[in-house]
Amino acid sequence: MGRRFFIRTYGCQMNGHDSELMESILLDHGFLRADSEDAASVVILNTCSVREQAERKAIGRLQALAWRKAAEKNFYFGVAGCMAQNLGKELFCRVPALDFAIAPGRIRSVAEVLKRLENGEKQIFLPNEEGETFVNGSIDFCRRKITRVSAFVSIANGCNMNCSYCIVPKTRGREVCRSMDSILREVQFLVEKGVSEVTLGGQIVNFYGIRKIPFVNGKSPFVQLLEKVHAVDGLERIRFLSPHPSGFRDDLIDCYANLPKLCPHVHFPIQSGSDRVLRAMRRPYTRQMALNVLHKLRRNVSLMAISTDLIVGFPGETEEDFRQTEQLFDEIDFDMAFVFKYSPRAGTQAAAMDNQIPGSVCEERNQILLKKLAVTSLRRNQLFLNSQQPVLVEAPSTKDPRVLWGYTPHHKKVFFSASEKLIGKIVPVKISYITTCALNGVLENG
Ligand code: 5AD
Ligand code: SF4
Repeated sequence: MGRRFFIRTYGCQMNGHDSELMESILLDHGFLRADSEDAASVVILNTCSVREQAERKAIGRLQALAWRKAAEKNFYFGVAGCMAQNLGKELFCRVPALDFAIAPGRIRSVAEVLKRLENGEKQIFLPNEEGETFVNGSIDFCRRKITRVSAFVSIANGCNMNCSYCIVPKTRGREVCRSMDSILREVQFLVEKGVSEVTLGGQIVNFYGIRKIPFVNGKSPFVQLLEKVHAVDGLERIRFLSPHPSGFRDDLIDCYANLPKLCPHVHFPIQSGSDRVLRAMRRPYTRQMALNVLHKLRRNVSLMAISTDLIVGFPGETEEDFRQTEQLFDEIDFDMAFVFKYSPRAGTQAAAMDNQIPGSVCEERNQILLKKLAVTSLRRNQLFLNSQQPVLVEAPSTKDPRVLWGYTPHHKKVFFSASEKLIGKIVPVKISYITTCALNGVLENG
């Protein structure tokens, strides 16, 4: 019988997708999926390095796994993803029992690494290699084991932006884009397997192909890609994650009117409301430029849902800078916001800045924005009260299997009672009750 493996995923959707890819590869090589870490004889942590806390959590977990390895013969554990690239061989010093570390660009070798361990090799480290960072999709998509009605489709990997706080250019390397043709073939494949919704993903999707593919009639390569994906028969919904505020032009804004499958929600990572801080972050847009895009979206698209990422306590962020972020928060009424306390990442420009902000100030600013978010997300959800929403049904709720959940086009999670037979379908639900993080409703006769 094959070995059982368990993959624990930290971080972003790209990591989730990488885990899915490793899982497919391992299944193809005769390994079996375990339902829990305890039931597995191979444990892989697919890690994130964006903030120190994520790395700390993973290291803690690895240390616990090291104890297990000491007690259990034939047990292997290792790290995949950003932390493998970021900490490299240092990982084997911090966790001496660690069996392997595979950088994001090398995860396709996961089965081979396990075979090498079984043959007696120790402490295998595969760092990224030049030109090998793009591992998602293209060659591998036919191996995907489809588990959801909504699928992530990687269109680009890596990032050329060099924001002064960010470790991603180091861990995922320079941006590599996939060909439109290969992306379209994957979308078609997914639809044939029953997928109704795709999320086109990458570090900055709206710059997709910008250096290689020409504009056509004023339309960027990303907009051309959206149009082609939109034309795939049987596909119901398109989302993308994440755009960069500075490349969000009218051709993209117009897509929301011209492409009905494009969902009325955008994740728009602003990071700060202060021009001074944006400059120090090396974000090439101003507060006003970002606001102009968001106001246009809210004017043009009915109930446009907007989520964002914000960093508080970036080095040198003054009370006045933070006030600017608060004001921006009040002006936009975000549906959702991921508020992060700035985390210095060794080797980035910002980590070397001498005006670091004390943790207590970061915490205070974090709490202020989270309080605001509780108000704005409730207010935004209220807009859907008593309306009928088309919900793409994903799965039964973990608490009560008679309750299903799914998403509206505006990316609102909806809970309602119905038969599991509806999973994968888009059904009408009348919204009867809301909270800050979800809508609840009743299935209507469609
Ligand atoms: N500290 C805090 N947050 C960060 N992010 C990226 N790097 C850091 C850091 N050093 C946040 C940004 C980004 C999101 C994925 O993580 O807001 O959009
Ligand atoms: Fe990091 Fe900036 Fe690239 Fe986003 S755009 S991945 S924040 S460097």
